[in-house]
Amino acid sequence: MEQTLSIIKPDGVGRGIAGEVISRFEKNGIRIAAVKMLHMTKAQAKGFYDVHRERPFFESLTDFMCSGPIIAMVLEGENVIEKNRTLMGATNFKEAAEGTIRKDFATDIEKNVVHGSDSPETATTEIAYFFNKFEITDAVS
Ligand code: CMP
Repeated sequence: MEQTLSIIKPDGVGRGIAGEVISRFEKNGIRIAAVKMLHMTKAQAKGFYDVHRERPFFESLTDFMCSGPIIAMVLEGENVIEKNRTLMGATNFKEAAEGTIRKDFATDIEKNVVHGSDSPETATTEIAYFFNKFEITDAVS
């Protein structure tokens, strides 16, 4: 079983589409192993997106990410990193496939509703950014 970090960004939470996003995960066999809503500080947003600190959109992205509450989740399932990225669609919603979350709901390359880890290494780091091991539940058989 693989785990990944998912974030419903301030635009998704603010527009009331968090339930729809979570429903898409569950309908596709993904288990929500942990969840929390939080309102990041600018410093927390900068820390999370540190890999992008040299990018021209870094200031704008980190302002956006602390502009309202987010929902951070640990998603669990077989091949969940790739599965989540397929469900999200391309970063740029204009390039996202039909039926993906970003194609259906994103309004802008930045305000793209969701974030998902892009590799096992990133998933480990990103999950640990928001959750300690006691906050991540085990599946009940
Ligand atoms: P995400 O998958 O969270 O990873 C980095 C984020 O930066 C991305 O989604 C977008 O929200 C944002 N982003 C990526 N590329 C651009 C860009 N060219 N202009 C503005 N924001 C971007």
